Amino acid sequence: MTNDTLYHIGFGASDLGASPPLIALLSGDPERARHIAQDAPGVTLEKNLSENRGLNSYLARLPNGRRFISATSGMGAPSLSIVVNELVQVGVRAILRVGTSGAIQADVKIGSIVITRAALCRQGAADDIAPREYPAAANPFLTLALVNAAREFNTDWHIGVTASVDTFFEGQERAESSANKALLRALRGVTAEYRALGVLNYEMESGTLFKMGGVYNIATACVCAVIADRTQGENPDLAAKDRAVRDAIRVALRAAETFDEEYMQPRYWR
Ligand code: URA
Repeated sequence: MTNDTLYHIGFGASDLGASPPLIALLSGDPERARHIAQDAPGVTLEKNLSENRGLNSYLARLPNGRRFISATSGMGAPSLSIVVNELVQVGVRAILRVGTSGAIQADVKIGSIVITRAALCRQGAADDIAPREYPAAANPFLTLALVNAAREFNTDWHIGVTASVDTFFEGQERAESSANKALLRALRGVTAEYRALGVLNYEMESGTLFKMGGVYNIATACVCAVIADRTQGENPDLAAKDRAVRDAIRVALRAAETFDEEYMQPRYWR
């Protein structure tokens, strides 16, 4: 531990060497963060940074030599907001979330990936960072890098608006698979309402991430593997998860590699 170690992520700027990485890939799941840094094809692990609180972080290199951090956000926006804040304190300027998601449109199939261009943000943590009306918009340049990567790999991909909510069960209108059968009236029918508005999918972190991107002046983007089809049922399809997550990781790594650092200049952030 160094004396600039940040309390939650468990490492500091002095752990990152003379040319600290500007990009982080952020996964909810610590095992995904580990996999990206240690097993993903073409990625070279430099060092394990921390396993503090299960917020596993790694310093690694992309195939083109660009250094990046693979970090864990934990589940949900409150945890993510702490990790993002501390990553910015160690010098990170672009954050790509690599997550999982439930589709709410019939044409967005399990096994595909969704690139979020903006989030419908229904998250309490975001309200501590900016007014509710503040846009939850992804960085267009980092998002384009994701789209280009998805096209290059011929992935089954979609781009659109994501509903980013605080709870997996109540907030995503799960009742059958939930311990809580007393779904609030305000949430009954919310999925159909979002579907009619053209929202593609549910997940739990991008809205707050994007609002932080705007307020902190950093580039943020999100790609999610579709592991549940909410037009058919409530449960994630574990058999299809691995392939979809592998595609999302591959696309995120390629986007991190090809993202033009020119777009990290402050003039592109406002
Ligand atoms: N993550 C979510 O937030 N919802 C899903 O349905 C699947 C993964």
